[in-house]
Amino acid sequence: MTGIAGKVIAITGASSGIGAAAARHLAERGAIVVLGARRADRLEMLAASIASKGGKASYLVTDVRQREDVAGLVGLATDRYGKLDVLINNAGIAPISLLDDLRVDDWDDMIDVNVKGVLYGIAAALPVFRRQGFGHFVNTLSTAGLKIVPTMAVYAGSKNAVRAISEGLRQEVGPSLRVTTISPGYVDTELPSSMTDSALREQGQASMKAMAIPASAIAEAMAFAIAQPDSVDVGEIVIRPTAQA
Ligand SMILES: NC(=O)c1ccc[n+]([C@@H]2O[C@H](COP(=O)([O-])OP(=O)(O)OC[C@H]3O[C@@H](n4cnc5c(N)ncnc54)[C@H](OP(=O)(O)O)[C@@H]3O)[C@@H](O)[C@H]2O)c1
Repeated sequence: MTGIAGKVIAITGASSGIGAAAARHLAERGAIVVLGARRADRLEMLAASIASKGGKASYLVTDVRQREDVAGLVGLATDRYGKLDVLINNAGIAPISLLDDLRVDDWDDMIDVNVKGVLYGIAAALPVFRRQGFGHFVNTLSTAGLKIVPTMAVYAGSKNAVRAISEGLRQEVGPSLRVTTISPGYVDTELPSSMTDSALREQGQASMKAMAIPASAIAEAMAFAIAQPDSVDVGEIVIRPTAQA
């Protein structure tokens, strides 16, 4: 199936930023979007706004740290719409810090959300994709995994764990399923709000203000990969502000 219209696309981390932009963009292009995140009010507003423009959207409050929540999101797609074409594993947090600070709880949170959350997405969708004989994983990584800098060791590690998992997945799933990773640079979103170190949060917000690209740019990159014919697997997209070093 080529294109986007008629595809059922589940998105984690759909309540703000890149996930919300992807939901809006893909729904405008005729996809049925199934939205997951923890903030119910945001999901409800987004689903209503998509519906008010003639699009189709459902949502389920989903904490990607809970395997059954992610299974529920995929189940909502298949129960309500009869299939799942794409799972966008996009939920993520970035409570970055120096390793010396020993913010071990933040390390745990990044592994739980950024790595285990994606694995739970794979666990939920892979059997569905196998049964259907088609399906597409789109995993949001980061340029933080390409240029490793101080304070980002664990965040970059979490994204590069998913980079490795995605490549292994691509090789294992064979000719009928697709796997795409998208590595954004600075994007104007709420991500700094997940930063627990206030100085780093302010620095992150300042960098975003100075150069960030809009979340719609990432949504369009996702749409490009999704719209390709089934036989074309866009493996990896890196998309960053021109000004980003
Ligand atoms: N912005 C950037 O510069 C940038 C750069 C590279 C990569 N990324 C990646 O892009 C992805 C999206 O982030 P964003 O920039 O759009 O930031 P954002 O606006 O903060 O969005 C993050 C999304 O993840 C969700 N989320 C966080 N914890 C969750 C959990 N436990 N369960 C379910 N959903 C959870 C949030 O929803 P709730 O709080 O409602 O659950 C929110 O919808 C992340 O993977 C991030 O690492 C961002």
